[in-house]
Amino acid sequence: MSDCSADEDPRAALAGAKLLLGITGSIAAVKAPGILTSLLRGGAQVEVTLTRGATRFVTATGLAALAGRPVRRFWEEGASPHLELAKWADLVLVAPASADFMGKAASGLGDELLGSILLATRSPVLFFPAMETLIYQHRLVQDNVRRLRETGYRVFEPARGRLASGEEGLGRLPEPGEITAIAGEVLARRRDLAGVGVLVGAGPTREHLDPVRFISSPATGKMGYALAAAAAGRGAKVVLVSGPTLLEPPKGVEVRRVTSAVQMRQAMGAAWPEARVVLMAAAVADFRPAQVAGHKIKKKDAALTVSLLPNPDILAELAGTDRSARVVVGFAAETGPAEAEARRKLREKGLDLVVANDVTEPGAGFEVDTNRVSIISVDRREDLPMLPKAEVAELVLDRVVALLRAK
Ligand code: PMT
Repeated sequence: MSDCSADEDPRAALAGAKLLLGITGSIAAVKAPGILTSLLRGGAQVEVTLTRGATRFVTATGLAALAGRPVRRFWEEGASPHLELAKWADLVLVAPASADFMGKAASGLGDELLGSILLATRSPVLFFPAMETLIYQHRLVQDNVRRLRETGYRVFEPARGRLASGEEGLGRLPEPGEITAIAGEVLARRRDLAGVGVLVGAGPTREHLDPVRFISSPATGKMGYALAAAAAGRGAKVVLVSGPTLLEPPKGVEVRRVTSAVQMRQAMGAAWPEARVVLMAAAVADFRPAQVAGHKIKKKDAALTVSLLPNPDILAELAGTDRSARVVVGFAAETGPAEAEARRKLREKGLDLVVANDVTEPGAGFEVDTNRVSIISVDRREDLPMLPKAEVAELVLDRVVALLRAK
């Protein structure tokens, strides 16, 4: 988790924070009173709402007694409090999150108070799924997890261990103390980049041979978009220079779309003066065809020789200019042990950090929603576990914030 705990306890951010705890229909809802108690002990103000499914496992009376206020319901006293609660909450926790509720939330359904609050809130939303492994790993549930993440919600991987069925596996709700610590971290990060200009490069570049053919890479932009979303969530003014991708732009981010490396260089250069942080996750093609045909190249029964020119190294060029007050982060896509190459890039490109990923490892690198990275600086190397890209982004930003404070 965040190393903001190095000098301050992230739970300190809970004091006085306004949290909404949404409990949904999973047997793990029996842990909800523990979560509520833990959040209250941290000094948070907590409003609680239950879905209909959750009432089979916990009672509104018991939770109200712990919270010292009534559990919130749809149409209480003739009006629905969804807008009031959506605006009030600094943070929304869905714990446990059932497969059924995640499916509804991923479809934008608001037939329960919690669903309506999610549609109306602009505060961070954290989902803690809890269910049997077979259900969690079902393709439809995983599709819903992906949609929720693409919407900007944080969906945490469940823990491994003994499940309600008696089987061992993935699907347990984390312990209340862990959920409280995560909530504290998210709150502590909330405004730590407020007003800071952050420039992100994402996606592939395309180097056209003719109007319908190009040299490119499998990059989808997921890593860069996760960084942009995380920075915006922490209050940064984000410019996202994006190569071609099908992804929706994250909320609150200014997107500048480009196709080729030369265009990306131009767009990054234009945004550089306003940026105090530069995060370059784009997979820039190192070469471009020397000549671009104006029409589709006709098929022939002879070999076609293409002459390639080197593309500019965007990051090296930018980092080579005045960057004394900036933090510049590159990524290193490696196809084997990454450290030596990553360190060479750190040195030669003059970067503050390199985030190295082995793109041959299943679940890491191009296209997937997860990544396993090492964060490398001149004097440190930190190996992170396999995590959703949204989590990797937060952890990279934790390091960036620490470096900015030191500048
Ligand atoms: O988009 P996804 O599908 O989520 O995939 C994510 C990713 C694998 C693309 C990402 O995690 C990643 O590793 N991005 C960097 C890919 C890369 O080009 O690495 P590199 O080792 O070739 O380049 C090192 C650094 O220099 C990178 O920050 C790169 O953006 C930058 N560079 C490279 C070449 C160039 N001509 N100009 C550059 O600025």
